[in-house]
Amino acid sequence: METIDFGHGVPPMSRLVYGAWRLADDHDRSLSHVVEKVEACLDQGITTFDHADIYGDYECEALFGRALHGHSTLKQKMQIVTKCDIMLVSPDKFPRRRTKHYDTSAAHIRDSVENSLRRLGVEVIDMLLIHRPDPFTDHHETGGTLDALIAEGKIRGAGVSNFMPWDVDLLQSAMQNPILTNQIEISLLNKSAFTNGQIATAQRQAMPLMAWSPLGGGELFMPGSEVGKRIMPRLTELGQDQGVAAEAVALAWLLAHPARIMPVVGTNSMGRIRHISDALNVELDRETWFELWALSEGAEVP
Ligand SMILES: NC(=O)c1ccc[n+]([C@@H]2O[C@H](COP(=O)([O-])OP(=O)(O)OC[C@H]3O[C@@H](n4cnc5c(N)ncnc54)[C@H](OP(=O)(O)O)[C@@H]3O)[C@@H](O)[C@H]2O)c1
Repeated sequence: METIDFGHGVPPMSRLVYGAWRLADDHDRSLSHVVEKVEACLDQGITTFDHADIYGDYECEALFGRALHGHSTLKQKMQIVTKCDIMLVSPDKFPRRRTKHYDTSAAHIRDSVENSLRRLGVEVIDMLLIHRPDPFTDHHETGGTLDALIAEGKIRGAGVSNFMPWDVDLLQSAMQNPILTNQIEISLLNKSAFTNGQIATAQRQAMPLMAWSPLGGGELFMPGSEVGKRIMPRLTELGQDQGVAAEAVALAWLLAHPARIMPVVGTNSMGRIRHISDALNVELDRETWFELWALSEGAEVP
């Protein structure tokens, strides 16, 4: 598996990442099934796992950590990404919280990191992302805290998620360490990052991007969805030509782009997990790339 080398003391991460957002939604939430999914990823060289404190109403990190307890050889092979700053209304976990909000204060970031370390059962987080830009941010406080956590060895590197280029600039202006990635929504369902400056700016800065919901959360394959109706038949046909499933073609569409996009795949299906890395073997030429763009858009480029 190709890896992305972020440098700056962060271990290389696999080009394809497995996302844990839906881990607690699986009909089988047993620890052995989580291990089965992790092993299926590692077998293909998918060594990077994406979490957030809030996933599964604050349960996914703990589920993952419990499943991997006692599996130190598996843990040694993986890199952990997690996130903080979204404050969910959760009557069970935070009965006094009234309003969903963001918190990029030093106190919250530190608290969230300590909780993630404990829940995941690891000693260091390989990359911590600020989950969403906080309109109430004190960038000096946030940036200083991320630098301090790196210096203290709690996290190896820092990145952001859902940031616009100006949000990245603001936080970077208050940090010694580089912001290593921006995790944003990119797929044949949502192509806005190609035109809103997020991808262009990352390319100029040579910053690899992580793409969340790279399969459009499944919508690309739903015959009931407008985009699914247009694009699914062609994805399937292209896949058949190369001996892979339609999902591999949708992921290959992201991999083909020069920005070094790292798709973060969230399927819970064992059948699909075992074939995520098929995407690396798909070849898409420029014209086919634009054909899929046009099917997604419902119109050819101007
Ligand atoms: N930073 C952020 O703000 C943010 C936001 C959202 C997500 N994320 C990250 O991105 C990861 C991936 O997100 P995601 O789960 O939305 O990504 P995704 O891989 O685009 O979507 C996965 C969903 O698509 C379904 N699916 C895939 N192929 C399908 C098919 N052929 N037919 C029907 N359904 C199909 C899967 O169902 P099955 O399980 O049945 O395969 C699953 O529900 C998350 O786990 C998380 O780590 C980050």
